[in-house]
Amino acid sequence: MIGASDGKFVLPLAEAGYDVIAIENDPLALCGGEVLLPVSGFAYAPGLVERLKEADLQQRVRIVAEDFLDTEVDGLVSDAVWTSCSWHYSVNHRRPLSEFVTRMQQLVQPGGLCGAEFMMPSDDRHDEIEHYTTPNALASHFGDAWTTLLVLQTAPFLERAHVGQMHDHTHRMGMLMATKHPDGYTKGGPSHDEA
Ligand SMILES: C[S@@+](CC[C@H](N)C(=O)[O-])C[C@H]1O[C@@H](n2cnc3c(N)ncnc32)[C@H](O)[C@@H]1O
Repeated sequence: MIGASDGKFVLPLAEAGYDVIAIENDPLALCGGEVLLPVSGFAYAPGLVERLKEADLQQRVRIVAEDFLDTEVDGLVSDAVWTSCSWHYSVNHRRPLSEFVTRMQQLVQPGGLCGAEFMMPSDDRHDEIEHYTTPNALASHFGDAWTTLLVLQTAPFLERAHVGQMHDHTHRMGMLMATKHPDGYTKGGPSHDEA
């Protein structure tokens, strides 16, 4: 899980019996702390570490508390790699979106699954930032070594105020899921990795 936050996806996966690698570098998401809620003011929010401990799931989850763009990917290769609304964070704008996506792809073992849900442009200022992308633009990063299984996108929708965003706001989201060819071979011959 890339951008695991406080574990919305990590906990159910671990509970279901999967071994999960959680990559996340926000100290609040990892260790918890005080957050400002839109209506009720300040409150304590537990982080991933505490939530895993409470659920007695620490053994199933390896936390990598690093910036994904600087993480050593060797040793983290997995059957499935997922990210939810992470690459549009401004910390990632210093490098091209292709770098984030390529690093994700490198983490997927042959035959494995790569999936992302992501913010699409929903505001004029997003048009300047390639990290607010579209399913079609993202699909162009998945070459012959991949089979695209699913591409979805929503219409613009209203999201209520939440931690970090004190006003109701509009989003538009996309999703893409693809599998890596099992033997690393592409339609045209060996992939670049294998050649
Ligand atoms: C919108 S949250 C989504 C988290 C979780 N999937 C969920 O739905 O609750 C995205 C998370 O990605 C993390 N993130 C973004 N860029 C990252 C990076 N380069 N390295 C590590 N974590 C990153 C952020 O800190 C944030 O916690």
